[in-house]
Amino acid sequence: MLPTPHIESKNKDEIAKTVLMPGDPLRAKFIADTFLEDVKQFNKVRNVLGYTGTYKGKRISVMASGMGMPSIGIYSYELYKFYGVENIIRIGSCGGYTPDVKLYDVILAKDAWSESSFAKVQGGYDSDVIEGTPALNEQLKKYAEELNIPMHIERIHSSDVFYRENFGEYKEIYDKHGCVAVEMEAFALFHNAKVTGKKAACILTVSDNLATKEETTSEERQNAFTNMMKIALEMAE
Ligand code: HPA
Repeated sequence: MLPTPHIESKNKDEIAKTVLMPGDPLRAKFIADTFLEDVKQFNKVRNVLGYTGTYKGKRISVMASGMGMPSIGIYSYELYKFYGVENIIRIGSCGGYTPDVKLYDVILAKDAWSESSFAKVQGGYDSDVIEGTPALNEQLKKYAEELNIPMHIERIHSSDVFYRENFGEYKEIYDKHGCVAVEMEAFALFHNAKVTGKKAACILTVSDNLATKEETTSEERQNAFTNMMKIALEMAE
């Protein structure tokens, strides 16, 4: 069954048991170049770059998810099901729904609420909330504490739509469902972990805030993401 339609590695040993997943392929490359040693690239199909290396002597992989639930749905499923990956940690950006989450704050997604049909279509899952794997969340919480990096632990919104005609709808989603921020992938990742019996978590950096209208530049974002990456990289094993 290897390679898969979207990952060209023919050998599952080329991919570590734990994979960090940013949305952006160039961020995957940046993480590999900046933080990992003994790096070997295992994917470049569609420019969805994937690398395996070591962090503090422990093995870890990093591969992009692309944007949105259909995209992360494909890559996470192939990694879990065909490459023997056990843990996927999404590391992404999000838009805050409340002034309580400030630009550059780090959020651990306890669970994700979504109006997406992904989980229902994929596996007949009926609820609109799926949680990240508690054991991974506990580990990430511990690493954040050890690194002295404050981290919110909250429900997030996984949305299929970046540009909504009704911009103000986020207020309702915050009030009704308690989502403090929006991104576009966690719900599908959490679902795929559930159906394959694997583990998933999602940590996010706030890159903009819908309530306060603050935004970051791409350069500022790069620096701020270092905090989140440091927490996630501790998952190497
Ligand atoms: N919407 C969806 N995803 C995002 C956003 C947003 O405003 N900001 C960062 N990721």
